[in-house]
Amino acid sequence: MIPVTKPFLPPIEEYKTFIDGIWQRNWLTNNGPLVNELELKLKEYLNLPHLLFLSNGTVALQIALRALELKGEIITTPFTYIATTSSIVWEGCKPVFVDINEKSLNIDPAKIEEAITENTKAILATHVYGNPCEIDAIQSIADKHKLKVIYDAAHCFGSKYKGRSVFAYGDISTTSFHATKLFHTIEGGAVFTNNSNLLKKMDFLRNFGHNGPVDFAEVGINAKNSEFHAAMGLVNLKYIERILESRKNQSERYDKFFIRKDLRKIVINNSSEFNYAYYPILFDSEEITVKVQTELEANRISPRRYFHPSINTIDLYKTKKLPISEDTSKRILCLPLYYSLSNEEIDLVSRILLRALNY
Ligand SMILES: Cc1ncc(COP(=O)(O)O)c(C=O)c1O
Repeated sequence: MIPVTKPFLPPIEEYKTFIDGIWQRNWLTNNGPLVNELELKLKEYLNLPHLLFLSNGTVALQIALRALELKGEIITTPFTYIATTSSIVWEGCKPVFVDINEKSLNIDPAKIEEAITENTKAILATHVYGNPCEIDAIQSIADKHKLKVIYDAAHCFGSKYKGRSVFAYGDISTTSFHATKLFHTIEGGAVFTNNSNLLKKMDFLRNFGHNGPVDFAEVGINAKNSEFHAAMGLVNLKYIERILESRKNQSERYDKFFIRKDLRKIVINNSSEFNYAYYPILFDSEEITVKVQTELEANRISPRRYFHPSINTIDLYKTKKLPISEDTSKRILCLPLYYSLSNEEIDLVSRILLRALNY
């Protein structure tokens, strides 16, 4: 069985060393020393001033929206994971979908302004597959219309834009450290901001609003993460360069198989360094996409139709037609990509895919 992804697992002895320490301290959660250490190490690695380690990437989005006190319309992308949209609705705001650019698959800045109304409060864009959005163009629209910017950077660990971590951009950037992500803490996520007031507010929000044992500064939630999750992050961080390098090599190996076929791949932002978080392929039609998927599955290989369907077509969030997102989501497959995927497995997946295309 070759799944679309498999979590990275470090040598168990390295994880156990951290667990022994947790047992000795008997401090399992609530801003423990490993959570602090992970936050410091991540700031150092990413070269960022502020971040907060949270329980997952969905609550990170909710806290970002809440911290910016957004109520009204939020311009967003329909080509993303459902958590981007559901967080907007969960926070009592209205998602206003804007279609994507057909090359980058990120929200198309050229279509944002026509969607702005007097109720628009912010832009929440996803850097799809770790490929940075057109950050400068989005920021200048936001500045012109006095809108906040949040980036859902769930896929972005290791991606850079203009030499800096992608997490550095927007009023707040969020990410996911879920087990399926290339850097993970089993479950986990983070918020990033350059604004220390926003950081403080989000720090209150993640811990029930506590400002000391009996004072409360905000209506908060429990978005803390535990020492066990932080421990996994601390061990995995030691392997991050190897993980990023292996994904690049694996992607380039896939590329060699598909180079002469007209399988459209996403166009990476040319001001960025990509983290190779996913290996998406765009086929000519939905029929071919399903045929390839069926053939791979018959050979015990699981690609993923990701993102599918386009969120604006889901009953709960249904709005007007968005042709590029809808068309793309019908024709895209992400191929298996994870640290322990071997060259032989990449060759096998590629050959079966090409065979399915040829008959
Ligand atoms: C684009 C995007 N946003 C948000 C999330 C939610 O992250 P989490 O699973 O950590 O809650 C995901 C998770 O896959 C994602 O892909």
